[in-house]
Amino acid sequence: MATAVKIGQDIPRIDGRLKVTGEARYASDMALADPAFAFLATSAIARGRITGIDESETRALPGVLDVLTYKSIGGAIKPAKFFSDGGYAGSSIMPLASDKIAHAGQIVAVVLADTFEAARDGARRLKIEYAREAPSAGFDSPGATEVAAKDVDKSHDDPEVGDAAQAFDAAAVKIDARYATPTQHHNPIELFTTSCAWADDKLTVWEGSQNVTGMKNGLAQQLGIDPEKIRVISPYIGGAFGSRGSMTQRTAIIAVAARRLNRPVKLVASRDQGFGIATYRAETRHRIRLASDRDGKLQALTHDGWEVTSRPDNYKVAGTDASTRIYACPNVASKVSIVHADRNTPGFMRSPPELPYLFAIESAMDELAVALGLDPVELRRRNDTDHEPIKGLPYTSRALMPCFDAAAKSFGWERRNAKPGSMRDGDWLIGWGCATTMYPTQVAPATARVSISPQGAVKVQCAAHDIGNGAYTVVAQTASDRLGIGLYRITVELGDSDLPPAPVAGGSNTTASVCNVVAKACEQIRDRLAKAAVTANDGPLAGEDSARLVLADGALQGPDEKSEPLEKALARVGAIEAYAENTPHGAPPDGIAKLYTGRSALAGGAKMKDRIQFAFGAEFVEVRVHERTREIRCPRVVGAFAAGRIVSPRLAKSQLMGGLIWGVSSALHEATEIDRGRARYYNTDLAEYLIPVNADVGQVEVIILPEEDKAINELGIKGLGELGNVGTNAAIANAVYHATGIRIRELPIRLEKLLSA
Ligand code: MOS
Repeated sequence: MATAVKIGQDIPRIDGRLKVTGEARYASDMALADPAFAFLATSAIARGRITGIDESETRALPGVLDVLTYKSIGGAIKPAKFFSDGGYAGSSIMPLASDKIAHAGQIVAVVLADTFEAARDGARRLKIEYAREAPSAGFDSPGATEVAAKDVDKSHDDPEVGDAAQAFDAAAVKIDARYATPTQHHNPIELFTTSCAWADDKLTVWEGSQNVTGMKNGLAQQLGIDPEKIRVISPYIGGAFGSRGSMTQRTAIIAVAARRLNRPVKLVASRDQGFGIATYRAETRHRIRLASDRDGKLQALTHDGWEVTSRPDNYKVAGTDASTRIYACPNVASKVSIVHADRNTPGFMRSPPELPYLFAIESAMDELAVALGLDPVELRRRNDTDHEPIKGLPYTSRALMPCFDAAAKSFGWERRNAKPGSMRDGDWLIGWGCATTMYPTQVAPATARVSISPQGAVKVQCAAHDIGNGAYTVVAQTASDRLGIGLYRITVELGDSDLPPAPVAGGSNTTASVCNVVAKACEQIRDRLAKAAVTANDGPLAGEDSARLVLADGALQGPDEKSEPLEKALARVGAIEAYAENTPHGAPPDGIAKLYTGRSALAGGAKMKDRIQFAFGAEFVEVRVHERTREIRCPRVVGAFAAGRIVSPRLAKSQLMGGLIWGVSSALHEATEIDRGRARYYNTDLAEYLIPVNADVGQVEVIILPEEDKAINELGIKGLGELGNVGTNAAIANAVYHATGIRIRELPIRLEKLLSA
């Protein structure tokens, strides 16, 4: 594309060709010089101790180089602190640090060999003996302990206003219901892999990561070396969604293995091992009490949530921040509790807080609409607000009802007969349901470097991450727009901890954080060129006001159609390298310093003092439930979203569509089943862990409403990577109720639940 593209222009993903031709190199694709291969052995028990490891058969195998266990490497790796306790790790459980077993599937040994096959064979031939203790699997398990989140986490706050208990008692119409969401595992197509190589005292790590700068710093602590001796490289990622957000337990182990062998080491964990060594979405429970007057005006909203975590870590998602602020309501109460069990520490999984918490509140809203005999869209309209109810802070923008109106219109909602079971097509009962989605708009301190050669070739460098979302494309597009230079002249480098640091690719902040700082660096280039042009003795722009000059269409342009070709303007200045830092509204003043230590200071959502910032949407679904077999189909999903300025319409639509499909999955398919006696997962492969295939997803329509929220940041970008899959699960549950009159409050909704209801 010879001419510059604009922010907001519909262009294909710039890395699309690399991906479809296999040219894009993922972490484990990197060619290492004479690598050794690692294979994990993982724990057969969930709680207890290792009493013996017989390595003799393994060590006798041809090609086996070494076996790492707690006996051989314990002490080589310093304990990692959990991220919310000031560390970088996704779990403070340290495999190979001692004989202790904290969860099923914990790494207990690493076999190193000349070939992958020998390492795998060797791992299977280890004879590991355990002293087993009875584990607690999760909710309702003997030995699981419950604590209030606010008692163990000083930063946790249970939103509350007015007197919800009293208002609930006094109200005319009430709902008091319990909801639950299951354990879910990530299963990205790219398996969990790590490759490490040392050159003298410098370590290079190739691992899919959403936070290369965080991993560099966290690993340095674990290995007791200077962070500047570590480089983490992660240019492409085959699915992240939170699973590669925090430092994992395996990376330091592979680094130590490579140092001991004095040889690069590559680990590719198997699909089933991913269930034990990576983070996951823990199961949640909810009790919602909603009360309104006869007109449907909310009088009381109480949201109590329970979440499972590991023994040592107080991980929680605590979606009450959003669920208590979603509608106008004078009396609100909430409480989040954490249940400690013998499980690996859970972690981020796309829209971690809102996905389970909005399932509960948006199901309850539908129940309230039924109790009132009111249309569910109308119920939301009557409780819409431009201020959040807890502190009365204004939303920077909130286009919830325009989203409902746009999606309802496209869906044909006005043709809905509200009576359950009243709409049918032959043997199929038709159900139509809807729900609100909202997701916090978060922006983080970020840095970037943009260089331009005298010939006009541009390089953008930033340690941000393309987790499949299209970061390469939106960054290139921003530079093209700001510099007036065609995409073909722009190179983008991301995913490398040697580049200027960027925040974790989490909380949907990347586009807003990174595009704004790249625009700032481009502005420095424009400024340099403009100042040189106006002070020059020659040239058409001499004497003009430099602030009014813009870079567009390969030229530096001024008023009255005066302009100078970019090459001429560049010839005057030579190569330019611009480094920019951006600290967004609400971020701490030392946010950039923190960023250099691998900590991201995401600002936004409901965590600000002066305002509240969220993106919104409305989702409508049609389900069909077979009258006799109770088979459930989802032929149609319509989502309308308002998420600030859209940098790349095509990629934004893909993100929202992917989110909606994952939302369908969350409602109807996904669940990790737990053997409660042994605290082990059963369905640890893609044959039995159900995910939707094309046949499970019919039409998916994405409508994006124009919105530009300049209060949020210069470019008006909100971020939308996680918005699409919130609310879909509730919309489906509400549609299933409409089809059948049966309210399923525990996900996933499967035919056996309808048959037994
Ligand atoms: Mo996401 S769960 O913020 O990677």
